[in-house]
Amino acid sequence: MRFDTVIKNGTIVTATDTYASDLGITDGKVAAIMQGLPAESAGQVIEAAGRLVLPGGIDVHTHLDMPFGGTTSADDFETGTIAAAFGGTTTLIDFAIQYKGQSLRQAFEAWRKKAEGKAATDYAFHCIITDLGAAQLEEMGQLVREGVSSFKLFMAYPGVFMLDDATIFRAMSQAAQHGGLICMHAENGGAIDVIVQRALAEGKRAPKYHALTRPTTAEAEATARAIALAEMAGAPVYIVHLSCNEALEKVREARDRGLPVYAETCPQYLFLSLENFDVPGFEGAKYVFTPPLREKWHQEKLWQGLVKDTLQVVSTDHCPFCYKEQKELGKDDFTKIPNGGPGIEHRLSLIYTGGVHGKRFSANRFVQLVSTAPAKLFGLYPRKGTIAVGSDADLVIFDPNEEQVISAKTHHMRVDYSMFEGIRVKGVPKTVLSRGRVVIEGGRFVGRPGAGQFVRRQTFAGV
Ligand code: URP
Ligand code: ZN
Ligand code: ZN
Repeated sequence: MRFDTVIKNGTIVTATDTYASDLGITDGKVAAIMQGLPAESAGQVIEAAGRLVLPGGIDVHTHLDMPFGGTTSADDFETGTIAAAFGGTTTLIDFAIQYKGQSLRQAFEAWRKKAEGKAATDYAFHCIITDLGAAQLEEMGQLVREGVSSFKLFMAYPGVFMLDDATIFRAMSQAAQHGGLICMHAENGGAIDVIVQRALAEGKRAPKYHALTRPTTAEAEATARAIALAEMAGAPVYIVHLSCNEALEKVREARDRGLPVYAETCPQYLFLSLENFDVPGFEGAKYVFTPPLREKWHQEKLWQGLVKDTLQVVSTDHCPFCYKEQKELGKDDFTKIPNGGPGIEHRLSLIYTGGVHGKRFSANRFVQLVSTAPAKLFGLYPRKGTIAVGSDADLVIFDPNEEQVISAKTHHMRVDYSMFEGIRVKGVPKTVLSRGRVVIEGGRFVGRPGAGQFVRRQTFAGV
């Protein structure tokens, strides 16, 4: 047996198993998993004693190089995939936006061009639908067949992204027929808009009013409506960036009824709260994203949602805007602050810290949340999302005991602040491989921009 790479003496952790084994890689795939693999003839040997060997993280919610709010998100596919790799994420599913009057294909091709030649690790796309005529309805099936098997719809941002219920229902019916999955941004955009206009009329213009004008009831109402529309359409639905207990309860009730309803939350809702707005001047703008931060008590409810499988996935909703110049666009008016926060780099460390070291769940559940369930829900499994013979050798050699303090001074995202500044994490990716190639080693990026490939995803098959 000769391998390109042998990983020796690690502890392999998948969503179901934890065991000591060596691992052999050939041609970018896992070729053997057994004790005592011969290292002498391997092209390279990676020593993993005392470390966990995890399947590469899969982040199903990122916005790289995305025009939004009069500017463009600060990470492109090069800087974004590299920062993700530093944090142990080796596959992204980003959002290709169809603007009004465009075909869905135009969106897909525009985003492929943004990624090609730049992405350092593998990537796929969801398509954001903003305009759904007969032609685009037809195109949904074609895109699913070409590997873009999920679509994001918005119940918020009136006049920009928001769709009416009839259009949502049509899209859900069509997605169900073709094996696609609808990802829903669930907030009642109409009601929020009225509350926002009232706040502006009262002179409330500071960043915290972004959060205070988007009540949890608006998220819960839209979550319930999305679930009801999906039930009528006979479609599965995936609620993105769920932020509060009221919406979580809607998902729990639906799942208790056996409906194919799934949801993700993000580290910002697990670690941050409205208290983060208690900062001087305009600094609260660093925490302006949508849905907004909630009262602190929601955090534990969301953690328990992850424990109980009401929530199946942790993604980041990485949508970075620099504090200087970008967030500052809304200096005098919170509605002009570009919505989004940077998080692509620290998902694994944060969730391992709060979940496994926090004694809320096992390392297996951690792998399930950050890699395996995302792969299964979004048609990447078993090529990605697990460690098995024949799977892509997207692997993270993870030190479960190393500690690190998150800071913009040391992170790799192309943004001038961190939402998680000063938070101490325990559990750090040390070596990261993408299809068998080492991309992170010794605190350095050693991969190649452009080496990442577009991954065609399969149709929706549940988890
Ligand atoms: O504030 C956010 N979340 N920005 C990105 C767009 C979205 O709604 O996911
Ligand atoms: Zn959204
Ligand atoms: Zn998003």
